Amino acid sequence: FCLCQCLYITIISENIEVYKHSQKQSRCPNLFLLFCHFRESLPAPMFSRNSVSIWSILKKCIGLELSKITMPIVLNEPLSFLQRISEYMEHTYLINKACSLSDSIERMQAVAAFAVSAVASQWDRTGKPFNPLLGETYELIREEQGFRLVSEQVSHHPPVSAFHAESLTGDFVFHGSIYPKLKFWGRAVEAEPKGTITLELLKHGEAYTWSNPFCCVHNIILGKLWIEQYGTVEIVNHSTGDKCVLNFKPCGMFGKELHKVEGYIQDKSKKKHAVIYGKWTECMWSVDPQAYEAHKKSEKKGDNKKHKNEEPEGAENDDADDMPDVQETVSVVPGSTLLWRIDSRPAHSAQMYNFTNFAMSLNELEPGKEAILAPTDCRFRPDIRAMENGNMDEASQEKERLEEKQRSARKERARNDEEWSTRWFQMGTNPHTGSQGWLYTGGYFNRNYQDLPNIY
Ligand SMILES: *[C@@H]1O[C@H](CO)[C@@H](O)[C@H](O)[C@H]1NC(C)=O
Ligand SMILES: *[C@@H]1O[C@H](CO)[C@@H](O)[C@H](O)[C@H]1NC(C)=O
Repeated sequence: FCLCQCLYITIISENIEVYKHSQKQSRCPNLFLLFCHFRESLPAPMFSRNSVSIWSILKKCIGLELSKITMPIVLNEPLSFLQRISEYMEHTYLINKACSLSDSIERMQAVAAFAVSAVASQWDRTGKPFNPLLGETYELIREEQGFRLVSEQVSHHPPVSAFHAESLTGDFVFHGSIYPKLKFWGRAVEAEPKGTITLELLKHGEAYTWSNPFCCVHNIILGKLWIEQYGTVEIVNHSTGDKCVLNFKPCGMFGKELHKVEGYIQDKSKKKHAVIYGKWTECMWSVDPQAYEAHKKSEKKGDNKKHKNEEPEGAENDDADDMPDVQETVSVVPGSTLLWRIDSRPAHSAQMYNFTNFAMSLNELEPGKEAILAPTDCRFRPDIRAMENGNMDEASQEKERLEEKQRSARKERARNDEEWSTRWFQMGTNPHTGSQGWLYTGGYFNRNYQDLPNIY
């Protein structure tokens, strides 16, 4: 059977044969990937948000806790939060690169690039993913990228999503749990992605951990929506205590720092080995610390001359917290090495929630997949499916129905004194950090789906 829609080509002496691939064939060393055909767009363009007055809905909610507000569905994007966190895997080639490098500083650079690339798909994605239902799961197998992933919503209040991805060749595991904490600041919603992410490079016996930066959606009531990510991300090598410290800069009053990320790799004795810089929306570079400092000094001199008589343009506009208009891209320090560059988005992305190509494919229900997927998989959620197809009324009704079903199931459990039990993850101690977290108990891909809850 066909697990994904990939076309492989096998070269047997001079004959070329083309196969629709199967799992067995893809492990054959003579096999070359010809092209991989996942869906590249959604079935329908998005519903225009301009036709709804978000303010008229939200003004009734002032003073309420955000978790108590039912946000209008038109502010959503047709993906579950479980699918959204799978987007960390878009640039898996960077983990594969880290695995293949023998120099530990170069490995750390690749891991740092991966950590930044993992949040790059947030760029311009102001749609809110659907809250996963308790017990909802998502699986993603990408043979051509060499990984498979499974995730589960393990808690509803507070919402916790646990995920586990592993290399198909046994090179790495990547896992964590995310507790998105939302705060409503009147004009903006800030999401703090609490929870630790762990990447283990098995052949090197190394484990790296980090947490994602804060993410803020500005102007949810008035003005143009835009996204900012900020905060310090510390990637720690638990074998040595070596660290990579990445500073996602807040955009600042004049927008000079918009999207910028800057950091360095240091060893246990705090000696700096490399400077890492760039933008999370664009590219990341690495350079020798001395070259970086020298370049910064010379740049500063030039800057002072240029901007002497410029008046800072202020935020005199009180109505909306507009994104400063900056066109300048990353200025490359001579001698730098490119670590990662973002792929451009498809042309129709703007009509489709600003999805990347990777995101477009996440909710695709490929022919034959229904029979294989767990019945709790997000792809079976009727509200997300309806929204994806452009049926907003149906989506809204289905969303309400599912939430009501979840509420009555909870009441039923309370009446019978039953505890909810998670299926594929258990609370345990992360051996690398000593902290408590949700760990994969294995077995999902044996596809034994007995006793799964009926959540849809
Ligand atoms: C997509 O990006 C554009 C350009 O930045 C922005 O105006 C728009 O609001 C974004 N749409 C969504 C759904 O986030
Ligand atoms: C991480 O720790 C391992 C084990 O001590 C060491 O071999 C490796 O060089 C370290 N990696 C980095 C990137 O510092």
